[in-house]
Parts: sequence; structure tokens; C-alpha cells
Amino acid sequence: MTTILMCPPDFYGIHYEINPWMSLHVSVDHPAAVTQWKTLFSTLQQCGAELVCMPPQPGWPDLVFTANGGLSLGKQQMVLPHFKYPERQGEEPYFQAWFQKAGFNILNTITKDSLFFEGAGDALFAGDLLFVGYGFRSEKRYFETAPYFQQDKLIYCELIDPYFYHLDTCFCPLSESLALWYPPAFSVESQERMSNNIELIAVTEAEAKQFACNAVVINKHVVLPTGTPVLSSILAKHGYTPHPIPMQEYIKAGGACKCLTLTLD
Ligand code: ARG
Repeated sequence: MTTILMCPPDFYGIHYEINPWMSLHVSVDHPAAVTQWKTLFSTLQQCGAELVCMPPQPGWPDLVFTANGGLSLGKQQMVLPHFKYPERQGEEPYFQAWFQKAGFNILNTITKDSLFFEGAGDALFAGDLLFVGYGFRSEKRYFETAPYFQQDKLIYCELIDPYFYHLDTCFCPLSESLALWYPPAFSVESQERMSNNIELIAVTEAEAKQFACNAVVINKHVVLPTGTPVLSSILAKHGYTPHPIPMQEYIKAGGACKCLTLTLD
């Protein structure tokens, strides 16, 4: 059974702009955000996941995006993030404290000299391959130097479109041999490297901008934002069950289903 960490949206909102989706002039409909978060939570449960929550913290509106809070390497081994923007760096101790209390072995120590690494938002496993995103948030140098990664299993994915600033906004493994992606989000060289390593299903520009790739995959279930009918029918043809849910309040901050979850296994 998959265990997923989420953080309730009590203090969620747009309080700064650190990606092109965020605008201080567009406010979040908070009751709608709560409803969308609860729908995601219960949909994941219905798909067979076990859900755990960390306490929300005033002053840290993006703490809801737990995908960035760490990267599990299995067997209770957790890598901590170091956020690029000070607006999110204050989240780091909350994630660390939660993982420690939950009994995880922490593989790294964060100092002011740490390279930037935004957790599972920029590092996605497909089997034993780890696709890693860099260009906006996480640093390539981080992946090249972190001792707990098997270098020969890393697939470097260079992000070139600021709207797709985390790997999980434009790439999503469905299995060890199949993944979703939005090709224009990557440099030509990375597109080639990715296609050489996994079979890829392209999403349309319109659906990519609806965060179609920001999906949570639980066995044959795919939880993704609404407004993605083309992808949903492709998924069904491949034997997957799509579960479209409204995510508009989180897309305002540059996130959706996947960003709001962190797999702990
Ligand atoms: N506002 C957040 C940020 O810019 C959104 C994070 C989305 N998370 C993700 N895994 N893509 O950092």
C-alpha cells in the first residue's frame, strides 16, 4: 500500500510570486481550496493509498505542496530539500521535524551552502531510473554530487519553459516503462535523452497548462486535474482509470494533484 503525505490548506494562499502562475492580484477562494484539497485526499484514499498529514503552519502558504518537502529513497531513507527561494526555505525545518518524528533516516544536512533541491517535485522514479529536473529550481550540480544517488540511474531533464519550472509539472511516470510528458518544456537534448529511456505519451499544450502531467499514479489509477479529456481518454486506452478532480485554486500557485502529495514508501 502506498503512503502519501499531505498538509491541510489552513494557511494556503498567494502571498508572493515565485513562478509565473502566481499573481498577487489573483486571490485564492479559500473555501474552494479546502474543498479541492479534501476531494484530492478522499480520491487518493478511494484509489487505495494510505494518507497521513503534517500540521499546517501560519506564514508558510506553500507548505501544502508536500512534493517539494523531500524525496523518499525507500526503506525509510529521506532526502531533505533546500528551496531556491527564501519564501519557501522556512518550510525546511518543518519537513525535517516531521520526517524525524516519523522515524525516517535523513540522508543529508541542510546548510546555507547546500545546493538547491526541491524534492520529489524535481525527482521522479520510473522503476530504478530517477528522472531529475533542473533549470529553474533544483541545481544540476546537486544531482551530480549527492552521494546517495546512483549516478548511472539518473536521467537529466533540462527544463526551459518558466511555466513548467518543476519536473512534475511536465513529466509523470505511469509505470517503469511508460510516462506522460509535455515535450516543449524540455531542451531538445533532454527530449532525446528522455525518449531513449522510457516510452512517452505527449499531452497537448492546453492540457499541459491545466497541469495534466501533475498526476498521482496509484497502480492503475491516475488522479489528475479536470480539463484534461484528451489525456483521460488516452489513459483509458492504456488500461488506466483517470480520476479528474478540480484543482483550479492550486493551479493559481503553480501546483496541482501531484504537488500536493509526497510518496513516503
Ligand atoms: N508555489 C509553489 C512554488 O512555486 C508551488 C509548488 C508546486 N510544487 C510542485 N511540486 N510542482 O514553489
